[in-house]
Order: sequence, then structure tokens, then C-alpha cells
Amino acid sequence: MRALICQTFDQPEALSVQTQPDPTPGPGEVVMEVRAAGVNYPDALMVMGQYQIKPPLPFIPGAEAAGVIVAVGENVRHLHVGQRAVAFTGTGAFASHLKADAGAVMPLPDGLDFEVAATLPLAYGTTMHALVDRARLQAGETLLVLGAAGGVGLAAVMIGKALGARVIAATGSDEKLQLALDHGADEGFNYASEDLRERIKALTDGKGPDVIFDPVGDRYAEPAFRSIAWGGRYLVVGFAGGEIPRLPLNLPLLKGASLVGVFWGEFAKRDPAANARNLARLSGWVLEGQVRPLVSERYTLERGPQAMRDLLERRVTGKVVITP
Ligand SMILES: NC(=O)c1ccc[n+]([C@@H]2O[C@H](COP(=O)([O-])OP(=O)(O)OC[C@H]3O[C@@H](n4cnc5c(N)ncnc54)[C@H](OP(=O)(O)O)[C@@H]3O)[C@@H](O)[C@H]2O)c1
Repeated sequence: MRALICQTFDQPEALSVQTQPDPTPGPGEVVMEVRAAGVNYPDALMVMGQYQIKPPLPFIPGAEAAGVIVAVGENVRHLHVGQRAVAFTGTGAFASHLKADAGAVMPLPDGLDFEVAATLPLAYGTTMHALVDRARLQAGETLLVLGAAGGVGLAAVMIGKALGARVIAATGSDEKLQLALDHGADEGFNYASEDLRERIKALTDGKGPDVIFDPVGDRYAEPAFRSIAWGGRYLVVGFAGGEIPRLPLNLPLLKGASLVGVFWGEFAKRDPAANARNLARLSGWVLEGQVRPLVSERYTLERGPQAMRDLLERRVTGKVVITP
């Protein structure tokens, strides 16, 4: 098989494509021929040694993939050779073949293509967990999404609408704002050129959003939290902006508001059945056309490092995939 190999924690450009023996499944495992692998911000952090999980070196990056099962080990009941499937493995997906525990692999419903399916587990799984399980977002509530044209951000715009919320998108450029509006956001603003607190106030009649979805952190988090509604829920999703913000604790007190942590990987490990339910509900929305995941670019394995560079330098909209 061919795979993108990380030999040492370094910039994505230090990765190289190498040929290795094809994997064989052990008991309880399957091997999938990868048709598309989703690229996520944490992949780039992991390659650089800046993620909370540091795999032993060398390793193959890539957390999720969709493809066709080509070999099945003993004791695997729900999968068979030739079946279309999607897998979340944390690493190993930027390769022509992926060996996975069968428990981490789900059959793909007809009508869901490989590229879209490959982008669902992490970004959309995180967003479902954040909005449904953690924030308990209700129909009619107002949701503010920061970084609203990015991977988890655009997912939050669409899932927020599917849950019946009014969605305000906030992005770092006018082009990204237009993209979020095209995917269903009701209103929005550009936080690079407009005053975040003023715009939130104007768009919510001074009340503030009930739920804030924040994958950006850095300098936007504190002013956003200061704008939240009474009883609001602030979802701490990530820090793509760079700095992990510090928040004065009088702010949640003054708003009767909650600061809510989101850690999808740990949730999926601790409660796989709840995660599977979230993904099944989401797949239903995708098949009905209510949620339309955006795959904005495809990269070969050789251009995989460029995919990570584009994420790190803020050039990506929606999701991108590697198609080995
Ligand atoms: N908690 C969890 O379980 C979980 C799961 C998945 C991902 N995450 C985290 O969520 C964050 C977003 O992940 P993603 O895959 O959606 O990434 P992404 O597609 O790159 O989106 C991140 C967004 O952050 C904004 N941003 C602001 N400053 C930035 C900067 N200096 N560099 C890069 N982006 C910047 C960008 O929007 P603008 O240009 O519009 O500002 C960008 O669209 C990451 O921190 C990731 O680690 C957390």
C-alpha cells in the first residue's frame, strides 16, 4: 500500500509518501481500500507534535476515511468484503489501505458518497455532540457560530438550522461570510472588519445569542462571551486562532451562563452508542438534503501536506479530502 508517513514531529511538508506491505486484518479487524479521507485541523497539529495525543513515531496521519472493505478478520459480524463503509481511527487514514477495529467502522447507506462520508465522523460528529448533547440547543433559540465557514463551523451552521435555531455566522472574511449564508445562516458579520460586540448586540436586539459555538478562541472568545444571553451556553470547541483564551469567572456569574467543554474523541470512546445515534440522525439529514456538507477541494496523497498547510493558513472552506 501507499501511505503518507510522519517520521518526526515537524511541519506537514516533512511528510513523505512511502510504499509498505498491504495490511492484513487480525481478529475483530477489517481492511478498507480508502477512497477518500477527511482532513482535519487536529491532523496538522498531530503531525507537528502540538496535539493532545502524540502517536508513537513513525505513524500515518489521518483520522477518518470512507471506502470499500477488502478483507475481514475473524469474529467480524456486521461487515463483509465489498461493502462500502466509513471509519474513524484517529490515525492511519492518509493511505491507500486502512486497517481498523471493526467497531470503528460503520456501513455506508446507499446515496452517501465516499467524499462526503469521509468528512462526517469528526467535524460533524463533534458538532452534533456539541449542539445536541452539550448545549441542548432548542428550536427557536439563537446560535452564534464563530469560524462559520470552516470544518466544524460550517457544520454548526447547517446542523443549527436543522435543529430549528436562528443562526448568526461570524467569519474572518466577506467571502467566507457569503459561503456561510449560502449554507443557511440567517445573518452574519465579518469579525476581521466589524466590531464583534456591536454586531452581536444589533443582530439580537441587545439580548445576545443563547448558544455560542467557538472553534476559534484567541481574541474573540472574551468579547463573544460578554455578549451571551442570560442563561446562555458557550461551547469551547477549539483554538484555531492560536491562543487559548483566559476568561474572568465573574462573566459566567453575571450572565447565569455556562461554559461548556466539548471533547468529541473522548465522548465517542466513552459512549459509542450515543455517537452512532448522532451520526445516524445526521446521515438522515444529509440524505434528505437538509444538511449539505461542502467538500471544497480534493488532494492526492502527494499533496496531503498542502491540504494541512491550507488548513493552517486559513485558506480552507468547509471540508477537504485526500483521495488516494
Ligand atoms: N473539541 C473537539 O472535540 C474538536 C473536534 C474537532 C475539531 N476541533 C478543533 O476545532 C478547531 C477547528 O477545526 P476545523 O477542522 O474546523 O478547522 P478549520 O476548518 O481550519 O476551521 C477553523 C476556522 O478558524 C478560523 N481561524 C481564525 N484564526 C485562525 C488561524 N490563525 N488559523 C487557522 N484558522 C483560524 C478560520 O475562520 P476565519 O478565517 O473565518 O476566521 C477557520 O475557518 C480546531 O482548533 C480543532 O482542533 C475540536
